[in-house]
Amino acid sequence: MVNPLIVANWKMYGDLASYKSVIRELAQNDVNLKLENVDVVICPPFPYLGILSSRLPGGIWLGAQYISTHAGGAYTGEVSAQMVRELGARYTLIGHSERREHFQERGSNLAEQLALATEHDLIPIICVGENKNEYDSHRSHNAVRRQLAAILERCHSRVDRLVIAYEPVWAIGSDKHADPDYVTQILQIIDEQVKTYPITQNACLTLLYGGSVGPENAAAYLSAPNVDGLLVGRASLNTHSFRRICESVLTNTQTLQQTETPVA
Ligand code: PGA
Repeated sequence: MVNPLIVANWKMYGDLASYKSVIRELAQNDVNLKLENVDVVICPPFPYLGILSSRLPGGIWLGAQYISTHAGGAYTGEVSAQMVRELGARYTLIGHSERREHFQERGSNLAEQLALATEHDLIPIICVGENKNEYDSHRSHNAVRRQLAAILERCHSRVDRLVIAYEPVWAIGSDKHADPDYVTQILQIIDEQVKTYPITQNACLTLLYGGSVGPENAAAYLSAPNVDGLLVGRASLNTHSFRRICESVLTNTQTLQQTETPVA
């Protein structure tokens, strides 16, 4: 069985002291949080990748928040897939809604990022999700399908391992979060669509939910049938909240085991 995946997106928040404190808290691998039962990925700002990679206990991985669409060259300010891999990243986010909104990242750039990620052995976490207008006008399914197609139709590299995070834009950084049944429905659509592309046909696919995840709702998402993990923003920089989110994997596993126990 594959471990649930909990991804922390630290965006451009925090500082070295707060990062160390979150990692220290997670490293207390005790009865409430067994790191062998959950894969935790931390995506800090670029400059911290190297320093954090030497401090991570087993079960915690590093991810980049973005990689350049270029492999290398005269692109001042850019950071390549190869560079983040060398600094210890194992994953990279691709197409987070804030990159789409503030940096105009679109399908063709994102397809190039996907190709570079796979070439440099980074596990891609592609983020998709509808905005408030699309949600209100019942166009979420189309929006998600369109975003997926724009990346997966254009990329020509074979992808063996793929993580897709469904993050409704209206739920990110707000106090709103999507209903777990609704999330299940959208993840089902994503799952079906991903399998239609030749480059991802044999990929090992992990599906995440993200958008105002906190300790109070993490277990509800994790118990939805097709949710394999969570992408967490704000709450991942709060030492206790993030630990509790990771612990909810254990609660969920216990609930599942109880449900699966045959009645004598
Ligand atoms: P949030 O952010 O958990 O603060 O809503 C999620 C994200 O941006 O990935």
